[in-house]
Amino acid sequence: MCGIVGFSGNQSAREKTGSGKKVRDILIEGLYSLEYRGYDSAGIAVTDEKGKITVVKSSGRVEELDHMTEKNEKMNSGICGIAHTRWATHGRPTTANAHPHSSEKVTIVHNGIIDNYVDLKKMLEGDGYVFLSETDTETVCHLIDREYKKTSDPIEAIRNSLDYLKGSYALAIMFNDRPGEIWATRKDNPLIVAKGEDGCYLASDIPALLHHTRDIYRPADGEILCLNGEKVVLFDREGREKNFEFSHIDWNVNAADKEGFPHFMLKEIFEEPDAVRRCVSHRIGEDGLPDFSVDGIPDEMWNSFDSIQIISCGSATHAGYVGRYLIEALADVPVTVNTASEYRYMPPAFVGKTLAIAISQSGETADTLAALRKAKEKGCTSAGIINVFGSAIARESDYVMYTNAGPEIAVATTKGYTTQVAVLSLIACKLALARGRMTKEEALSYCDSLKNAVPDAIGNITERRDEIKKAAMRISKQHDVYFIGRGPDYYAGIECSLKLKEISYIHSEAYAAGELKHGTLALIEKDTPVIALCTDGMYYEKMNGNIREVRARDCYLLLVHSPSFPHPEEFSDDRFELPEVPAVFTPIVSVVFAQLLAYETAVMLGCDVDHPRNLAKSVTVE
Ligand code: G6P
Repeated sequence: MCGIVGFSGNQSAREKTGSGKKVRDILIEGLYSLEYRGYDSAGIAVTDEKGKITVVKSSGRVEELDHMTEKNEKMNSGICGIAHTRWATHGRPTTANAHPHSSEKVTIVHNGIIDNYVDLKKMLEGDGYVFLSETDTETVCHLIDREYKKTSDPIEAIRNSLDYLKGSYALAIMFNDRPGEIWATRKDNPLIVAKGEDGCYLASDIPALLHHTRDIYRPADGEILCLNGEKVVLFDREGREKNFEFSHIDWNVNAADKEGFPHFMLKEIFEEPDAVRRCVSHRIGEDGLPDFSVDGIPDEMWNSFDSIQIISCGSATHAGYVGRYLIEALADVPVTVNTASEYRYMPPAFVGKTLAIAISQSGETADTLAALRKAKEKGCTSAGIINVFGSAIARESDYVMYTNAGPEIAVATTKGYTTQVAVLSLIACKLALARGRMTKEEALSYCDSLKNAVPDAIGNITERRDEIKKAAMRISKQHDVYFIGRGPDYYAGIECSLKLKEISYIHSEAYAAGELKHGTLALIEKDTPVIALCTDGMYYEKMNGNIREVRARDCYLLLVHSPSFPHPEEFSDDRFELPEVPAVFTPIVSVVFAQLLAYETAVMLGCDVDHPRNLAKSVTVE
């Protein structure tokens, strides 16, 4: 989704140290680091000391904008600026529609959607404003311009404009008679401000700031900020100045670099053993049992509800399926897994007291946030399983369990997913203990495997890229791939299938193995790849039957199995043996095989692995 970067230089500090980077360079570097969010056009606006604003836009990649501006004198001598990557919603990805948009006195960039822009546009046209783009953003720009002309006061102009706006927004605004200042506000869209030695920064996500500072502040909905180079001043919705504190984030500066890997996705797959180990160890107490006191969750909480509703989007929902399987199988607590975009209009029936668990890597997904609000409205206690510290969903949840995976840059999630499943695995154990469904000994062995055997097994898979490349060679020549499995293997298969299709563009589906014959078997023909996930011997007989069904249609059968799952020679064309882990944990492990399979396939096909077409990392529109 769209990305915002802003920088207002502290001129005296920059002159004193003589080390100040050019404003243009800071903004363009910021845009590069937000590329992972997904976008289709980009733009930049830089102000000089007299308030003259220069805007350059491109309907292509940031690289193009970089080339267009690198020798531009006005860009290079600026003191303050805002920049944007746009993910088209209202109007095609053209230069005219790219941000920044300008009115007579105002230049802005915007993330989000203005729901009532058609009415606002009519109103502003009535006032004589002429529109040059098809965007909803341009209405906001003219609206602030109109209000600013009435009051000459930026706070009043912004406050009055917000009264008109319906929808979601993060806005960065420059007034051409206030050189050096950036004004900002937000509602239901991410925005972070930060202060460094060189000046004040603003961005829609942390990676854009990591090289400058790690002291950040996330404004609440409706707060208004002024960045004036030396400091950030905060005002509440009523325009009163307000105190605030920056919080320090401990993400490593290198976390937003590829560190020698060709793609972020590969780097993030290789980070999974540590990420899972860290996420789990953090929540295993000295007694070797799950302990969520680090998240401030009291033990009584786990006995305070009758059912769980999981709300999420994309891969987070797939993590939710695995979570449901574990929680129901181990703790016998009823769980529903809900696609957030549907939940907010039609949540499932509420069974007794309900805990709503919102799962989100970014913590900013608009549908998940809206669903969380709906759950709270219905009286649920809420908990978030979130990666990004201080994000909107984290802030609005009653309890937050951070996955601590570090920044995830590749659009296709990898360590985000596995750490979500790791937290859900611990929740299942905690609930099973709290409800007397698991003995202490069983729980000790479970936690020990999750903390040691599982990260080791993931590490083992990352070391076997050559084997996986061989399989990818075969897959990369096909149009359709089917994943089949039963129980946890089916749930893992859903995520495996999504990984393959989203980055290699090869059509792929996942089926409960017993269900394939109810229609989809019609699509299996000679050499169609079927990947059978077989990790729990309990399903051997039935999987055997399902595998024979597809083999009888001459498919290419790739068996992905645990060492103990029977695997006679004639069973498959090829096989990949997973390291041994208890069957309940295989979804965390087999998925890593599929992440690498998808990665190698996409690389072979020359796909843009980190930025798959049409997709965005953080989906902040509903
Ligand atoms: C986007 C991403 C997916 C992700 C989904 C939910 O579609 O491309 O990888 O699973 O959003 O994101 P969240 O940040 O809420 O986990």
